[in-house]
Amino acid sequence: MSTPQPQTTERRYQLFINGQFVDAESGKTFKSPNPATGETFAEVAEADKADVDKAVAAARKAFDGKWSKISARDRGRLIHKLSQLIERDAAQLAELETRDNGKPIKESTYIDLPGVVENFEYFAGWATKIEGETIPVPGQVFNYTLREPVGVCGQIIPWNFPLLMAAWKLAPALSAGNTVVLKPAEQTPVTALELAKLIQEAGFPEGVVNIVTGYGETAGAALASHKGIDKIAFTGSTEVGKLIATAAADNLTKVSLELGGKAPNVIFADADLDQAVNGAMMGIFFNQGQVCCAGSRIFVEEKAKDEFLGRFKEKADRIKVGDPMDKATLMGPQVSEEQLNRIKSYVDIARNEGATVFTGGGSPELAEEFKNGYFFQPTILSDVDNSMRVAQEEIFGPVSSVITFKDDDELIQKANDTIYGLSAGIWTRDITRAHRFAKAIKAGVVWINTYNMMNAASPFGGYKQSGYGREMGKHALELYTQVKSVWVDLSGKPIGWFGK
Ligand code: NAI
Ligand code: MG
Repeated sequence: MSTPQPQTTERRYQLFINGQFVDAESGKTFKSPNPATGETFAEVAEADKADVDKAVAAARKAFDGKWSKISARDRGRLIHKLSQLIERDAAQLAELETRDNGKPIKESTYIDLPGVVENFEYFAGWATKIEGETIPVPGQVFNYTLREPVGVCGQIIPWNFPLLMAAWKLAPALSAGNTVVLKPAEQTPVTALELAKLIQEAGFPEGVVNIVTGYGETAGAALASHKGIDKIAFTGSTEVGKLIATAAADNLTKVSLELGGKAPNVIFADADLDQAVNGAMMGIFFNQGQVCCAGSRIFVEEKAKDEFLGRFKEKADRIKVGDPMDKATLMGPQVSEEQLNRIKSYVDIARNEGATVFTGGGSPELAEEFKNGYFFQPTILSDVDNSMRVAQEEIFGPVSSVITFKDDDELIQKANDTIYGLSAGIWTRDITRAHRFAKAIKAGVVWINTYNMMNAASPFGGYKQSGYGREMGKHALELYTQVKSVWVDLSGKPIGWFGK
């Protein structure tokens, strides 16, 4: 961030295409509000199909040209340089993230930004380690594989971890030698465009990364259905994930999807209850509950229910909700008015379905400055049945549904009774029970006596309708490479099949 800008005036951003910052072809812009106040925080160029076409053409030119000629070592060095520039500017980027998204500064500083740096660093190291194989085929033949980049990748990301989601997508794609057109979410376009400045500063060739901010139905749909891309990667709602898969099917574009969840976070009576309560809080109140792997269904063993609920409520009521720029704040506003209204409607649905609003369920009392912000209280729903909508649909807010169970068999049946399968947690002192659960649960990530643990080296992704493909770790490279098998005759003899 070479040019510091005052916080009070609106920030203006352009699209990043072919190494240049440019206005949208239409000249259109859109406003991104600060969710804590509802006031406009930034004005951003609004990309449409024409801009996506330009970006895809730039990415294609870079893929066929300069980027393919750069050595793996230099590719790794560029990605590493980028991680260092992000680390240099981490404090300012964290502040911008908080102003654009609403998440507490404590989170953007200690979770988001370190995660971004870690992902670029980790995948910088992979660039020189992507290797083919030699295959022991029979006969006088030599067979080997080449692991090559897929090509031009479209990447569409959500607003819940704006810069971190950009890193999860860009880092493996670039490491493997692909070029990218990235579309950030319209709610949180700012930090991706700040990242573009650092991509420029790091010295990536023009067109390797292109960033087009705009709406899903226009820019996003144009990217997903584009004939010029070789792969589309998406993180967001299961509903839109299906649209992406459909659009991709038309061109047989490769697809990876990281979609919604309704994770079971299971508490057995034999667990350390203090730790389990903290784990339940981490599962559902972190990032205002706007987390795809949120532990939104809390399964409590029947006999521990009352004690758990008592302690959980006491701690939930004490969470400091408010000004996200305050270092002591643990929950800021939801990202948008639309999301806030969606959460409110689910609390009404819960009441109509016969659940109890055990605590929360409304907007917190806050200072005048934040009266137009999109805040919601930490909320616990009890007397929830697993078949209710609040137990089956992703709410994406700080709303936990507490469900009881009597034994392991009932638990597994209910925990798996969902269309989703992204993650799961279990709290118990019984290691046999914990591992039995880890095996039986249909989910891509399982946490035992912990929650939300992640690392750039460890794969993350879903079973069932939570998506396909794995992000992070070496598995992410499978999404961004394709295998070529090469056969070489060593016999020197002609093929005799049709006669000599
Ligand atoms: P969304 O799935 O509509 O948006 C995610 C991204 O997809 C954004 O960049 C958006 O512009 C883009 N998009 C939207 N429609 C598109 C289309 N037709 N073609 C191509 N791209 C498109 O999510 P939204 O509307 O912001 O939130 C709705 C719900 O989705 C949330 O309440 C939550 O349940 C879920 N969600 C899940 C996320 C996750 O991490 N799994 C992240 C964000 C939302
Ligand atoms: Mg949407």
